[in-house]
Amino acid sequence: MIYYNSKTQEFHLQTNDSSYIMKVAESGHLIQLYYGAKLTHREDFSSLDQRLNTKLGSTTIYNPSYERLTLETLKLEAPCYGKGDYRDPLLHLKYTDASRTSDFVFKNAQLLCEKPALIDLPSTNHHTTQDKDEPIALRIILQEPVKNIELHLNYAVFEQANVISKNAILVNTGSETVQIQRALSACLDLSHNNLELIHLHGKWIREAQVARQALSPGIFHIDSKKGVSSANHNPFLCLASPDCSESSGECYGFGLLYSGNHQCSVEVSPYDQTRVMLGINSFDFSWELAPNNSFTTPEVVMTYSANGLNTMSQQFHYLVQKHIIAPQWNNYPRPIQVNNWEATYFDFNSKKLMSIAKQAKKLGIELFVLDDGWFGHRDDETSSLGDYFDNKKLRGGVNRLSKKIKSLGLQFGIWVEPEMISIDSKVYKQHPEWAIKHADREASLGRHQLLIDMSNPEVIDYLFTQLSHLFTRANVDYVKWDHNRNFSDIYSSYLSHEEQGGFAHRYVLGLYRLLEKLTTAFPHILFESCSSGGNRFDLGMLSYMPQTWTSDNTDALERLNIQYGTSMLYPPSAMSAHVSAKPSHQVLRHTPIETRFNVAAFGNLGYQLDITQLTHYERKAITQQIAFYKKHRQLLQYGTFYRIQSPFTHNQTMWLVLSEDKSEALLGYYQKIQQSNPSLECPRLPMLDLRKEYLIQNRSQYLNLRNFGSLINESLPIRIKDRGIIHTLLANRYMHCVADEEYRLYGDQLAYNGLPLNTQFTATEMTDNIRYIGDAGSRIYHIQQVPKA
Ligand code: DGJ
Repeated sequence: MIYYNSKTQEFHLQTNDSSYIMKVAESGHLIQLYYGAKLTHREDFSSLDQRLNTKLGSTTIYNPSYERLTLETLKLEAPCYGKGDYRDPLLHLKYTDASRTSDFVFKNAQLLCEKPALIDLPSTNHHTTQDKDEPIALRIILQEPVKNIELHLNYAVFEQANVISKNAILVNTGSETVQIQRALSACLDLSHNNLELIHLHGKWIREAQVARQALSPGIFHIDSKKGVSSANHNPFLCLASPDCSESSGECYGFGLLYSGNHQCSVEVSPYDQTRVMLGINSFDFSWELAPNNSFTTPEVVMTYSANGLNTMSQQFHYLVQKHIIAPQWNNYPRPIQVNNWEATYFDFNSKKLMSIAKQAKKLGIELFVLDDGWFGHRDDETSSLGDYFDNKKLRGGVNRLSKKIKSLGLQFGIWVEPEMISIDSKVYKQHPEWAIKHADREASLGRHQLLIDMSNPEVIDYLFTQLSHLFTRANVDYVKWDHNRNFSDIYSSYLSHEEQGGFAHRYVLGLYRLLEKLTTAFPHILFESCSSGGNRFDLGMLSYMPQTWTSDNTDALERLNIQYGTSMLYPPSAMSAHVSAKPSHQVLRHTPIETRFNVAAFGNLGYQLDITQLTHYERKAITQQIAFYKKHRQLLQYGTFYRIQSPFTHNQTMWLVLSEDKSEALLGYYQKIQQSNPSLECPRLPMLDLRKEYLIQNRSQYLNLRNFGSLINESLPIRIKDRGIIHTLLANRYMHCVADEEYRLYGDQLAYNGLPLNTQFTATEMTDNIRYIGDAGSRIYHIQQVPKA
């Protein structure tokens, strides 16, 4: 609901649990009065308008009529450069007379019952409110008093999600071009600085690492200059009170619906106010805004939680599911896939793929995904990107393969990397000008490839035609859309001199245009975004592709960190997670197959290993895993996700998914290293229903006999040599179940006392009451309400 107090010119944006209040100041600037826990609506909020009501030395007075008003201390919605606010501005514009001062003041506002979509950019979708008296969107128009330019500020409230969205549009109403040097999406000024900053940083095979630090005077700035949102810094920020934990304390979360170069900053001013801003990176950016044209900035979503980080994340997860991904994928059971990449890399033929597919069907897998290497003459990374036609590896091409896969009762998915061009390709020979590079300079390559010019509409048309043809002829159900290099040598042969400064943004606009066309033409295709793993995991891509390949790192322990961090903003249903081979191809670590599953199960499950080479033990384990996943898929993909214990700070990681009615949950429990003589563990589970009684049982899973070495002789009548033939044979066939655990407790006991887990193995004995977890060991506990007698 959005309220407008016309007398005091105040706007109150209210969600179920939060309030955001702005007002038009006496100078005409739009200022913020409050953002935090929900306030009852009042006709007048002027008592919240706290100012430094004194004449300050060494400052700039905005206007002689207001001798105590300096922009430097106001909490501004649209701060600019040039009138006395010395913090970083939202906007920086250059006019034809070379002046750079801007100042936007209130012109008018409009309450809306429908949220308008953004032109050319992804945006949150909002259903129309039935009740005309309940506006959910707001447009405030600010006017530059000297120049003919307007700033349109858009807002929307998502009551259930407790999210407020914002973005800004510059409209040139004059007759002269305005040069935009910076146009960020949104600014929030908080009155104090007693906050800590949480953000996600990383790199290839090490995405979404959680960092937390205290704020201090100055500017903290993260960004991407890579052309994609990047694994270095996800376009996400959280400001949390120092005492904020997963389950208590205050925090604010911010996310940006954008997939290119971004910047996110937090500035603590000399007056201890905190300014948060997000938007398109102003580094290497300029945009000529011609008369009668507008420039739209990407949407920012922000949320407030009074109950810790889990609530912040859950609010974002709800938003993603209900208002960001396309409605047909909301609650859609995401299929279990087998992907041939780590099984074969480029070395495959139809026979090999069919044997994987047949085995997949037997195991209960639902979707077969053909990864890189099926087109042109692509036998390695050096060629053929852009030539999406069949190669000699596949007899009858992908059409035939798809038909055969489908006749097994599997869905068919395919890999493409449309935003790239190989120098060794037909398309490059025909259109060298489509590659991103400068004619006078030898281009730097990434994975032997160049970017294709997505700012060129001809390229977009070409890709649309080629991909549409492929998707239709191969009757594709799923597409993995990859992007494996970052920007360099930025120069477009298509763009004019004036347009070059906006290349990175125009590239993203071209990409969005292509995705919009493809997802409209093929609404039934499930697209998965990938950029060498999570190099472009963002809310912009999720608007078109409801799931993302979270990381090229499929090692279970590494994935704990990556999935834990990613869950700050993105729900499990957005994360794809696969069980891969042992040892891990990324870190050469050996982790049990059950742990690989127990981690991957809290995402969209897949298998990415040569399933035709499984031992009897692995086959049996995987068959059970898949049956378990199918049984609990709804909860695993769409349950409310809670982080319980962090892999960044603990030896044991825990997370949980909970059903809406709190009758059922699954607890993931993971251990990095087996400790000697470990202490008792009793994790608290405060999210359950305090009055319900619960039965808690471990998922029945297997232990590999190899773990026990020669100790297996303790329980056998004969002597077996450690790692000898019989030992190996036994280990490959024998299904040794972990000890069953069963606990029965009430919700209040689980919340206040915790779950009293059985003692871990401590060298002396192995009884039914001992949990042997081991290095990289894990469990999934099924928590179910006990029906009342
Ligand atoms: C990078 C991806 O992240 C991998 O999963 C795989 O698809 C390769 N590209 C293929 O080239």
